[in-house]
Amino acid sequence: MTQADVSSSHLLLGTCDYPEHVPQDRPPVYARMQRELGLSFVRLAEFAWSRLEPLPGTFEWGWLDDAVEAYHAEGLRVVLCTPTPTPPAWLIRAHPEILAFDDQGRVREFGSRRHYDFASPVFREHSRRITRAIAERYGQHPAVAGWQTDNEFGCHATSRSYGGASAARFPEWLRAKYGTLDALNAAWGNVFWSMEYTDWAQVKPPILTVTEVNPSHVLDYNRFASDMIREFQAEQVELLRELSPGRFVTHNFMIFESGFDHYDVARGLDFVTWDNYPTGMLELFAPPGIGEDLRTRYARTGHPDLVGFNHDLYRGLLSGGERLGRDGAGTPDGPWVMEQQCGQVNWAPYNPMPADGAVALWTAQAWAHGADVVSYFRWRAATMAQEVMHSGLLRHDETPDRGFAEVAALDQTAFPVGPVPARVALLHDYESLWIYDQQPHAQGLNYWTQTVTYYMALRRLGIDVDVIHADADLSGYAVVVAPAITLVSAERAVRWTDAVNAGAQLVCGPRTAFRTPGGETWPDGQFGPLAELVGARLLQYDSLRPTLRQTVTGAGDLSGTFEAATWAESYRLNGAQALAHYRGGPLDGQAAVIRRGNVTVIGAHSDALIGAVLEGVLCAAGVPVLPVPEGVRVSRRAGQLLVQNWNPEPVEWQGTTLPPVSFVVRPVEADQPLEGEQDA
Ligand code: GAL
Repeated sequence: MTQADVSSSHLLLGTCDYPEHVPQDRPPVYARMQRELGLSFVRLAEFAWSRLEPLPGTFEWGWLDDAVEAYHAEGLRVVLCTPTPTPPAWLIRAHPEILAFDDQGRVREFGSRRHYDFASPVFREHSRRITRAIAERYGQHPAVAGWQTDNEFGCHATSRSYGGASAARFPEWLRAKYGTLDALNAAWGNVFWSMEYTDWAQVKPPILTVTEVNPSHVLDYNRFASDMIREFQAEQVELLRELSPGRFVTHNFMIFESGFDHYDVARGLDFVTWDNYPTGMLELFAPPGIGEDLRTRYARTGHPDLVGFNHDLYRGLLSGGERLGRDGAGTPDGPWVMEQQCGQVNWAPYNPMPADGAVALWTAQAWAHGADVVSYFRWRAATMAQEVMHSGLLRHDETPDRGFAEVAALDQTAFPVGPVPARVALLHDYESLWIYDQQPHAQGLNYWTQTVTYYMALRRLGIDVDVIHADADLSGYAVVVAPAITLVSAERAVRWTDAVNAGAQLVCGPRTAFRTPGGETWPDGQFGPLAELVGARLLQYDSLRPTLRQTVTGAGDLSGTFEAATWAESYRLNGAQALAHYRGGPLDGQAAVIRRGNVTVIGAHSDALIGAVLEGVLCAAGVPVLPVPEGVRVSRRAGQLLVQNWNPEPVEWQGTTLPPVSFVVRPVEADQPLEGEQDA
């Protein structure tokens, strides 16, 4: 079986199973149940190193051979993993230098998972060794559809190690980048506070300083750590390609993970997968802009836009024709959801039981946002160790749990695969994220909050969005939104200018083009290389504590009064026009929203203002908007429209009642606006 065999014209389903956790007679029983449930894929072995190689160089394949045969016998296709997130005790005790260091300079010990430093040469050697062994054993097995590298890079704050092997490698990385210490000192601005280095060996990871670390130092450390992950994975991918031809290679990325450049690490994979835990995401990862009211409202479903944003981000990781190893026909396009919550999670401060209908709703949303496969975590609830409180499709006692029933009731043929027809691009960039969050200047605002605020405004207007890299090809988009791209190089400015000249509307949020790629400010101030396009320069910025508000009044098409919280910045005009001004406070009378031609900049952080500006821009660009009620969302894929109600209560909309936590799929005729859709 090859990649070509795993495609389908509709959504496929799978699960994550752990034959190493159960007696040997269970996998044949589970495989039969999985087939009967309509599952097509089973993912195996990402944490099984201690059972695959119980002693150095001694492999025990028997249990996995049997399990793979059992799934194969029922027609399930296997996604195998390199088991590197869990190096066994014998390896760690023989080579403690594999262990990583936290940001307090402490060793992160053996006894859970992800206890390794990506830069460790010893671990790299063992990673290649175990990858080779498992790929030689199963690489050509007919049941094996593809591979997952490791598991959730960066989970548990493991992207960066702040000592040991990483600390040793960092100076070498810097030397390769800068060549001379003079260049390094200049790039980081080390003259400030006498931070200049006279020897490469003097440079350490950016932790444990008396007060703030130099943000340029942090930016480069983050780039370095990201490169270590890319290198680490590339070594595995190379072996898998050699030993398992015709199979896909992917990785399961994580919700809102910020620790590495995902675009860089995804390059070289066939497609991207990610792990979707909507209720845990709301409890643990919701940006500060999502208040207690929304956390309560969506406690049993998660927030539609936090989930939707992650789907759209991961769908866009490999956009732009960078997929490798593909034959261009019949392969699964991805993305997949490799782990889909199907009951309670165990890792958030609170772990509410999902609402009736939530598992089906999450599956439908995943499909509508581009997923070709949704694979549930996990098959049977674990009866041992750290995750016993976590649900599976089966309870601990092997009886079907609530999620199982919802999966059984799904009609997969209602979910045809095909393109997501987005005309709006939202730009994202991990380097902007790193430098923004290093100096947020206002508690309560960070890169994700600002970015997701713009995303939510678009979704409330019924708009499908591609989240793509800030340097991606922008051709074909009617509207490009750059909510928080604070780091803008001269080349990036040229790309954006070209897109605007080609007719796209560009909308930027505060702090756009504040920084150089090195992390300093532009010497001619914000907007640096975009100043001409924007027709303005930054005048003031104001960080608003939670009890302070700043009033903004619009003029013309943007009439109304808005309240900004957390952040307000104003502009000196040089060709642009002001669409809104600040009233009262230190920015009184200054420009808050400006426009020059197709370029609009919103300086004030205000949901309502952002929504109003975007609505006007979308209409100007000829993109029809469809405002939806709170908690109702629409998404389009392959000629179908998915209408979702994420509310715990029914909603009346367009003459029908949408039951609580429910969805409906119906054809969308491209030339037939929906009822309520406002055309340009
Ligand atoms: C994921 C992880 C799984 C499991 C799951 C629990 O982050 O990949 O192994 O721990 O969380 O929700």
